[in-house]
Amino acid sequence: MRADIVDVIDARVPLTKAGKDYKARCPFHDEKTPSFTVSSDKQFYHCFGCGAHGSAIGFLMAHDHMEFREAVEELAARVGLVLPEGAGAEDEPQEAGNELLSVLAEADRFYQRQLRKHPSAQRAVDYLKGRGVSGEIAKRYGIGFAPDGWDNLLSALASDETRRTVLLRAGLVVRKASGGYYDRFRNRVMFPIRDTRGRVVGFGGRVLDDSEPKYLNSPETPVFHKGREVYGLDLARTAIRREKRALVVEGYMDVLALAQFGFDFAVATLGTATTREHLHALFRLSPDVIFCFDGDRAGREAAWRALETALPTMQDGRQVSFLLLPEGEDPDSLVRKEGGEGLATRLAQARSLPDFLFEELQKQVDVRRLDGRARLAELARPLLAKLPQGVLQQMMVQRLAEFSGVGADRLSDLVVGKTSPRASRSAPGSDKAQLRKPPSLVRTAIALLLHEPGLAQGVGDTSDLVALDMPGIPLLLLLVDLLKSQPGLTTGALIERFRDSEYRGAIEKLLEWPHPALQRELNLEAELSGTLEQLRKALHAQRTDELLRKERLQGLGAAEKAELSRLLAERQGFGAG
Ligand code: CTP
Ligand code: MN
Repeated sequence: MRADIVDVIDARVPLTKAGKDYKARCPFHDEKTPSFTVSSDKQFYHCFGCGAHGSAIGFLMAHDHMEFREAVEELAARVGLVLPEGAGAEDEPQEAGNELLSVLAEADRFYQRQLRKHPSAQRAVDYLKGRGVSGEIAKRYGIGFAPDGWDNLLSALASDETRRTVLLRAGLVVRKASGGYYDRFRNRVMFPIRDTRGRVVGFGGRVLDDSEPKYLNSPETPVFHKGREVYGLDLARTAIRREKRALVVEGYMDVLALAQFGFDFAVATLGTATTREHLHALFRLSPDVIFCFDGDRAGREAAWRALETALPTMQDGRQVSFLLLPEGEDPDSLVRKEGGEGLATRLAQARSLPDFLFEELQKQVDVRRLDGRARLAELARPLLAKLPQGVLQQMMVQRLAEFSGVGADRLSDLVVGKTSPRASRSAPGSDKAQLRKPPSLVRTAIALLLHEPGLAQGVGDTSDLVALDMPGIPLLLLLVDLLKSQPGLTTGALIERFRDSEYRGAIEKLLEWPHPALQRELNLEAELSGTLEQLRKALHAQRTDELLRKERLQGLGAAEKAELSRLLAERQGFGAG
């Protein structure tokens, strides 16, 4: 059972059949005629125009900007598999994760029950009422109460030492230096944090007065990563799909207030900067994401950091906007003051990412001065270079050209030239010379095997080549061995096999270089055996030279003499080679 790369790509870039492969215009560079090829046999895609290539996992990483794990999950989901939490990423066994999740669920029920039943709950209820939180919203978001005291949760949930350590690993209790445990959350209003599947993975707790710290959150645990979870996303997902936009705010209370005023597509990052994972989770639901931050200095800075994080994820079609509220307001206070309509009006005026980027940069320079405009170009260049290549990047380069007076072509070169090595390798034109350069024998052999793994079956014993002193020989021999012992491996599988190995870079490079024989579909078997024959000749020459040198310097033993004369005789047989 596997997710076919053709289906995966076709869902994103419609493919047309061409022979036994599929073709499309390349999503990674601009082109008029399709040179992007997807092969089901090889489980591999390759663009002959820009060199972009990879497996299904690699495609999701490059095209949807997924992290490796996300891509694996996506593919697993296609064939109906669910990967255990942490699989591949951590050593934490699945049962341990389940244990934590079930104790977190119990804690969630406990805190919610305390808000209804505990003798001192009235203070928490009054606090929530005082902040305008309706009973309905409190229920919907599962708001709870951690009563004052050191062991409320401990004594309710932990009957023995084993259970206490589970609570500890779930971040619910703290271990004393002297031994023993105490409740982490005391005298706080509790906000359960649920993952997208609705399972409680952590908590935030707010004090009822103005003591410090105002908020306390669960620590990072095997099931809780602040950089991954988006508060409220489980409840907002349908609304985000319906609205085709997601509203990102900073606080728990902001999410609650917004939901109460009908903005049920609002979510929050958990007191951390927005991460790419947050963005991926949101972009999976809608192409439009609006950040709404407080108007203070911290809010501006958070917005700018969110912008920087968003840049590489801005593939064409996605939109990110920013709404900075007036000084002293946050979404909670604003929506209560101005009502839903007030906020809706502001949202409609949120600044687009390009506007926000240029406006903020222009504040930093004097655009009336020539050197000020040069500075603007310098500041913007690395930012624009982070954008994926596409229409948005071109348009922003164009706009920078207008602002700065630097020619668009020149800027475009600077921006594209400045991209990461990975991106620049898939930049069309930027390294045509490299692509045309004929590769060495070893590289040819490796490239052939990578593109046509089945060829290895026809290869005889190659162990003699181990003596050949040429770069790439170890990889070549490794590939031959691997493919002979596992005949079914496709190109895509090989890429994944070597993803974390020292050979990854070499393999990437060779896959980028489309061997002419592969393009013309010549006799690849002959091509490979010819290449291997050339390598044997090279080995032969290497050994001959070695012996000749040794003969000159120190003389040869009898066996070596015999070997040398055999080699020299064979050399005649090789002809001109
Ligand atoms: N936060 C946190 N730890 C703190 C302060 C804040 O984790 N010590 C996080 C919380 O997720 C909080 C968000 O940052 O919701 C925003 O903080 P802030 O603006 O200070 O809080 P508000 O949400 O406005 O809280 P409130 O309105 O309850 O004062
Ligand atoms: Mn607030």
